Amino acid sequence: MKPRLIVHGGAWDIPDQHVEAHINGVRAAVETVHPLLEQGMSALEAVERAVNILEEDPTFDAGRGAFINARGDIELDAMIMDGRTLDFGCVAALRNLLNPVSVARRIMDARDFRMLVGPGAQEFARAQGFDEVPIEELLTERELKLYEKIKNDESFKPISAFSGQAPSDTVGAVALDRDGNLACATSTGGTPRKHPGRVGDSPIVGSGGYADNESGAASATGYGETIMRVVLCKTACDRIEGQGAMRAAASAIETLETRGKGYGGIILIDPRGGYGFAHNTPRMAFAYADGREVVARIET
Ligand code: GLY
Repeated sequence: MKPRLIVHGGAWDIPDQHVEAHINGVRAAVETVHPLLEQGMSALEAVERAVNILEEDPTFDAGRGAFINARGDIELDAMIMDGRTLDFGCVAALRNLLNPVSVARRIMDARDFRMLVGPGAQEFARAQGFDEVPIEELLTERELKLYEKIKNDESFKPISAFSGQAPSDTVGAVALDRDGNLACATSTGGTPRKHPGRVGDSPIVGSGGYADNESGAASATGYGETIMRVVLCKTACDRIEGQGAMRAAASAIETLETRGKGYGGIILIDPRGGYGFAHNTPRMAFAYADGREVVARIET
């Protein structure tokens, strides 16, 4: 099986001046990780590594660069799923961590649970030896400016972030390894000025990500409250068999728009290695490996 890797860096109205940073960010994740997949890295390891790279890049709303919530704090959500076993790990409302997806991966290996939130997730991360970072390490000038602009603006609605009036940049990765195993991972800072404790689609199995060797694997980005309505990633994976990856992605996004009344984007890989991607936002940043070449695009 030829290894495959596709990543996204969010779907929104990416302004022209941020296009280069987005393309460079998603390209770097694929350029770094796809060769490792070719050398035999598992799909699960690959999606974690690719998302780590995107979390550390301040361009994106995940890890460093995440949105600031209504209390002036940063709370992070992430998930990872193994298409071979259908096992998963999810974390939500995690603070002061640069790589929440790696905490999700450790949760996946825990004996008694698969999803942790808030202080319990924090306690688990600490016990697992993750280094907590000061909030300044995650904060960017860009997000501070946005926060100052919207913190008392009663007319601001989170859905504006996805239809094109404010930034939104969840990150995700989907991989197929040499053994034919699929995996996905998604990580986010959520929505601008979100309510403390608000959890979106990203750490929810089936909505923000889904992976099953028998149907396909996907990662979503967009307005979580609407993505959850249509369980976007599971919906897309279920449609692959009849339609192929590309049409399954497009038809799932159509369902997000018509039934979910929402905005977002999706990347996916079918069990034979076919890619799919679609969005109904003005733009989406993504990259994938095509043989030895890396294709990095802002799709409009
Ligand atoms: N898709 C990210 C969120 O709504 O939290």
